[in-house]
Amino acid sequence: MSANRKRVAVLISGRGSNMRSLVEAARAPDYPAEIVLVLSNVATAAGLDFARQQGIATATVDHKAFPDREAFERAVQETLLTHGIELVCLAGFMRVLTPWFVEQWRGRMLNIHPALLPSYRGLHTHERALADGVKIHGATVHFVSPEMDAGPIIVQAAVAVLDSDAPESLAARVLEQEHKIYPLALKLAAGGAARLEGSRVRTEETAAALPAALLWPVS
Ligand code: GRF
Repeated sequence: MSANRKRVAVLISGRGSNMRSLVEAARAPDYPAEIVLVLSNVATAAGLDFARQQGIATATVDHKAFPDREAFERAVQETLLTHGIELVCLAGFMRVLTPWFVEQWRGRMLNIHPALLPSYRGLHTHERALADGVKIHGATVHFVSPEMDAGPIIVQAAVAVLDSDAPESLAARVLEQEHKIYPLALKLAAGGAARLEGSRVRTEETAAALPAALLWPVS
């Protein structure tokens, strides 16, 4: 294992399928990051079992045990520092973060959001996209900024919205793309190919090398 692979913590609250996609991608010997910790605010999060099976360190920091958000985050921060974490990936981590925590990880914390930001910040993105009748929907990996679901975009993938879609079918098609773009975005960020420049991300890759718009083919 290369000494300069970035030490990554993935923060989850539930299923953890994006975390799993990161763990699987990081098995490649030339991947510039290793997942060394999976942390959850929910002790029963299904993703923790997968991480344990993989021999990855896990931690639970139950937000309900703390008087306020920042006290919870200080406990999370202590755990991250104990494990020598260099990059944080939020993957279905269902906690609103304080500016204090976001500032600790400025340019070093990624999130995946199931919509093409800046459209559809917040929850229930697939239901809202269907209600609006948009024809293209997707997913975004971005650096985390204090404003929720609003940070500089690293990678996006688009899928076509079909007339026959229900929220579940659209979510499933978006999720399939999430599992491709999160490993790609982490690779770019950990390897130094994606860098913050003000409010934008500059990517040192040729456009042709990046599946920046993975449009679902409609036959
Ligand atoms: C994903 O849709 C992700 O985009 C959103 O929360 C969901 C988490 O799913 N932030 P999983 O736990 O990674 O399976």
